[in-house]
Amino acid sequence: MSGQRTLSLEMREFDPTDYQRLLEIYNANYPEYTRSINEWRSRDESVDRSKYHLQRYAFLENNAVVGFGDVSHVTDMFHPRKFWINIFVDPPVRGRGIGSAIYAKLNGELGKLNAIAAWAGSTEKLPRLTEFYQRRGF
Ligand SMILES: CC(C)(COP(=O)(O)OP(=O)(O)OC[C@H]1O[C@@H](n2cnc3c(N)ncnc32)[C@H](O)[C@@H]1OP(=O)(O)O)[C@@H](O)C(=O)NCCC(=O)NCCS
Repeated sequence: MSGQRTLSLEMREFDPTDYQRLLEIYNANYPEYTRSINEWRSRDESVDRSKYHLQRYAFLENNAVVGFGDVSHVTDMFHPRKFWINIFVDPPVRGRGIGSAIYAKLNGELGKLNAIAAWAGSTEKLPRLTEFYQRRGF
């Protein structure tokens, strides 16, 4: 018998009530670069949405948020068709296809935005994340 099971992932747009969960998942992934809710909020609120794209999605399994993904313009290196993406997966549910599903959604968004380039960040301390993006052409 295989241990695999079907991934049932729902997606919805990010809601301000999601900041607490975003913070938990982000800080669990990046304990060396922790942020506060106020920092997240003020970063988001500082983006002039009339000029710049910033779209974040929450991904849920059994009504619990297990990850986030976002696509945004890079405001200090602005190009209308170049974007930055972020993928955050709750560490206990890594390795079950959630990161891949989030990427697929973001990649679809990049297509709709007619993107000519997408950037993503990783570090040498996160080889799994680096390889994840490299295998997807980054
Ligand atoms: C990279 C990341 C986004 C992937 O999310 P995920 O939900 O685990 O991804 P998936 O289950 O869809 O698997 C993605 C890939 O990882 C591979 N993978 C699964 N389990 C793995 C493991 N234990 N180790 C390495 N790679 C693994 C899968 O085979 C898959 O390969 P592919 O790129 O060929 O498709 C997520 O793991 C992450 O954010 N990691 C970085 C954060 C981190 O490592 N922090 C460490 C400090 S706590």
